[in-house]
Amino acid sequence: MPLYKLSFSAFGLEAGGAAASLLTELAEPRALAVTLFEDGPARFLVEAYYETEPSLGAVADALSALRAGLGEAVLETMPDQNWVALSQAALPPIAAGRFLVHGSHDRARVGARRTAIEIEAGEAFGTGHNATTALCLEAIDRLTRRRRFARVLDLGCGTGVLAIAAARVLPGACVLAVDNDPLATAIARTNARFNRVGRRVRVIDASGFAHPLLRSPRAFDLVLANLLPGPLIALTPAIRRALRPGGVAILSGVLDHQAREVDASYCAAGFQMMARSHRAGWTVLTVMRVARPSRPAQDNGGTHGALRRLGQAKRRRNARRQPYRRWVIAGA
Ligand SMILES: C[S@@+](CC[C@H](N)C(=O)[O-])C[C@H]1O[C@@H](n2cnc3c(N)ncnc32)[C@H](O)[C@@H]1O
Repeated sequence: MPLYKLSFSAFGLEAGGAAASLLTELAEPRALAVTLFEDGPARFLVEAYYETEPSLGAVADALSALRAGLGEAVLETMPDQNWVALSQAALPPIAAGRFLVHGSHDRARVGARRTAIEIEAGEAFGTGHNATTALCLEAIDRLTRRRRFARVLDLGCGTGVLAIAAARVLPGACVLAVDNDPLATAIARTNARFNRVGRRVRVIDASGFAHPLLRSPRAFDLVLANLLPGPLIALTPAIRRALRPGGVAILSGVLDHQAREVDASYCAAGFQMMARSHRAGWTVLTVMRVARPSRPAQDNGGTHGALRRLGQAKRRRNARRQPYRRWVIAGA
């Protein structure tokens, strides 16, 4: 069966990342896969593959807001090929921190090691090939080298790759994996069993926190959330409520230019930034729930804004010679 490949240049990572995200989310034409490659200094190549011939008009409409940063689109018909073999070759094992995520086609090559995770590319998101997942795996790796977590929530689990990774490096932990897509939860359950953590990874169908198992406050000490900025921001109070003081959230699915907004939302809700890392235009934020500051942050200035405001408050208090009440990192 032939495939259709649409490709165009993007000038700057921001334009390329935004175009690739738009094509990934577009329902019509629905792309089988969208990739973003670096193609020279500040120049990127966006490629999208389709099963049926896409309407160039619909694609142009979807990308109209970004037109200035994009080159001319070219549509090609790809000759009949063994697409399964080609896509497997294009999905090599991904090393992220201690983890090695691979498909069944690489099982023999990888061998049995504790941090190898076998995930078949399919209809759920999360093979490790996307930077948002790889950055989360690296954050889990770093965090669990210096701290133990007992109750982990993977919110938007897709294939379950993050839940499985957490269960692997936290041998005593219970992990709850949630997705609002029943296909994803079915795949995550199979993957958890196949990767020998089925007893400790419970997978449930829920949208956000709408499930009886997610009602208790302070139930988790680690939340993994590879979602989009909109849901991450909307879920800020619920994630805060679900975490114990001192608990940590790893927030992914955020383009570099969107990180400040997500940071501001969590900072205003009483989180402290622990770490942030970037790759291919994506940012992952690791934040810790702290006790609320005595006066909650009023604007959206992010961590820096909050620290600046705290500094200003401190100077005002010192001027009045009143004791300064610090933020308390409870339970940390
Ligand atoms: C970007 S994928 C992340 C998959 C996997 N955790 C990873 O890191 O590769 C986001 C997943 O979140 C799910 N999702 C999106 N919004 C959700 C919500 N409000 N509640 C539960 N799941 C949600 C989607 O169905 C999708 O499977």
